[in-house]
Amino acid sequence: MTQGYTVAVIRGDGIGPEVIQEGQKVLDAVSEFENFELRWIEYPHGAEHYLEAGELMGEDTLKELERCDAIYFGSIGDPRIEPGILEQGILLTIRFYFDQYVNLRPVKLLEGVRTPLAGKRPEDIDMSVVRENTEDFYVGIGGRAKGTGRKREGLEIKRNLYQIKFNLDIETDADELAYQIGIVTREGCERVMRFAFELARKRGKKKVTSVDKANVLIHGYGFWREVFTEVAKGYPDIETEFNFVDAICMWLVKNPEWYQVIVTPNMFGDIITDLGAMIQGGLGLAPGANINPDGVSMFEPIHGSAPKYAGKNVSNPIATIWAGALLLENLGETRASKRVIGAIEAVLSEGKVRTYDLGGTSKTSEVGDAIVEKIRVQG
Ligand code: IPM
Ligand code: MN
Repeated sequence: MTQGYTVAVIRGDGIGPEVIQEGQKVLDAVSEFENFELRWIEYPHGAEHYLEAGELMGEDTLKELERCDAIYFGSIGDPRIEPGILEQGILLTIRFYFDQYVNLRPVKLLEGVRTPLAGKRPEDIDMSVVRENTEDFYVGIGGRAKGTGRKREGLEIKRNLYQIKFNLDIETDADELAYQIGIVTREGCERVMRFAFELARKRGKKKVTSVDKANVLIHGYGFWREVFTEVAKGYPDIETEFNFVDAICMWLVKNPEWYQVIVTPNMFGDIITDLGAMIQGGLGLAPGANINPDGVSMFEPIHGSAPKYAGKNVSNPIATIWAGALLLENLGETRASKRVIGAIEAVLSEGKVRTYDLGGTSKTSEVGDAIVEKIRVQG
């Protein structure tokens, strides 16, 4: 019997639908050659659906997604909607609900792609960023207070792993203030750090770099550093180092070849992976995987919805297609996954079919077609 998988698809906003379309095209093609079946279930969630139906991501939909083998996600964000609503209501809701505690982002310069870093070659830029994906300043706890007097705030986070409740007493004579609380827990750190070390072992890498700002945010990131030191003891075969987040931004540009596996708190991970995307040739080439090793994972390009380019069929679909390859790997279809990445590399190094961001004039759909063709001919 042919193996079959159910994959939920959320195309989302802006260029999301057109890049996902190419991803589905490529995954459908490879599934045929490799003899497995992908059953897509499309979900309309995103800006349009929110404006029409008032729904972001409901409990019922989350329950349905739970029955899928994976989620394939385009991008969200729309100029008509205030920043934060769709991001929190859809993307972060899924990451948290499914406890996708690893955000794995390969930063790899593929053959045939130009990096803006002078003199650096594919062998110099090849690392995995393991970004913690459920804690830090992303938990969304915060508020405002105004004028004199006291304010009492009850703030709560509920997770599978733990519950946290703050009862905050605010006394101020500032005109107005806003605050945001970041959370770092022992169990949250340990699991993502272990993932990073295991990944290093699996890939034959020798070093894991931990990112923090323990010199300033001494509570949260001092704790992160402490837990990292403890977890590292379980992996004596792997070398470790600490980098402050400002310093790693500098070194990633100057000496990317130093890095193999990077483990980072959520927000710093968000920032350094945009930097990572640029050194690997641009946002159009950078994929990401939101992983719960024991649950449902979600795969997406790291770029946003780029409304300016929506519907023009000019955006680079490679980040999304590569995210599709990560999805296949997660399903256990390793050969198919390698075949997709091999085809992406072949198209890029041939250099004939390229979108504008890589200096070409090809359409989004032509890139998808070219990758399908490479899968067919090169096996
Ligand atoms: C990313 C994005 C998201 C993040 C936004 C859209 C919530 O920037 O996936 O990197 O900050 O994680
Ligand atoms: Mn980001």
